[in-house]
Amino acid sequence: MSFINVTAEYQPYIALIELNRPKELNALNLQLMAELRDALQQLDQDTQVRVIIITGNERAFAAGADIKQMAGKTAIDMLNLDQFSTWDQIRKTRKPLIAAVSGYALGGGCELAMTCDMIVASETAQFGQPEIKIGVIPGAGGTQRLTRAVGKARAMEMVLTGKFINAGEALRYGLVNKVVPVELYREEAVKLARQIAGMSPIAAKLGKEAVNRAFETHLDEGLHFERKNFYLAFASEDQQEGMQAFIDKRPPNYQGK
Ligand code: CAA
Repeated sequence: MSFINVTAEYQPYIALIELNRPKELNALNLQLMAELRDALQQLDQDTQVRVIIITGNERAFAAGADIKQMAGKTAIDMLNLDQFSTWDQIRKTRKPLIAAVSGYALGGGCELAMTCDMIVASETAQFGQPEIKIGVIPGAGGTQRLTRAVGKARAMEMVLTGKFINAGEALRYGLVNKVVPVELYREEAVKLARQIAGMSPIAAKLGKEAVNRAFETHLDEGLHFERKNFYLAFASEDQQEGMQAFIDKRPPNYQGK
């Protein structure tokens, strides 16, 4: 892959995408988001990749949508740009996505981290939806995902005052999975990715899809969806391998088939 605003690194079964506009604190301009979408689409098809990590640098995961790119736009410009269709495509990534966050995860940066399935944060991470300070509101799912993650009272305060929360608060509120010293946050994300990559990639996709349904449907429909995905897992060789390995008392060897 050759991109300018994102870079990719590989380990067995794991791809790590780094947002790469460090001077602008990884502000998410249209080009970066298009490259991120393209990279994720390629990785989603790549059978050698089972888990994808999205990260920034120590100072910033991403400080939000690019304000300089948006500043002169009218409502109709924004409507015609339809930038959030790129976000919709990113959301449709079927493989597990982990955000490894250090420093600022603000506005669209916080929204991108929340679009991932799990967040590993460094102790220096700060999360916020400060759009109100520049006269707008979150546009890439922040009001919905933050509210589901941290509850109405905290989300309201963050969205209406623009207040940031630190990594410890984010952990207490259930926004992130773990918090580790800054020198370890990527390593910790890779560890988590490796754990998931050792599972059946088919079951991982089915499980991700079913958990996400919890936010999109009523209980009855969600339970029905889960059941269908559970039965579907029995169509995979990985299911036979996983259960046989348990019976044989040996580690499973999943092939994604
Ligand atoms: N867009 C464009 N440029 C940005 C940016 C952004 N979101 N955030 C930072 N930058 C740029 C700055 O303009 C600056 O560039 P110059 O050196 O050319 O001046 C560079 O990155 C470094 O930033 P600062 O000098 O401001 O660094 P700081 O340490 O003093 O402050 C900060 C850091 C608190 C994160 C501050 O940069 C800031 O408040 N950034 C904006 C945060 C924000 O409002 N995000 C929401 C954007 S709107 C959105 O995301 C909508 C949506 O839902 C999709």
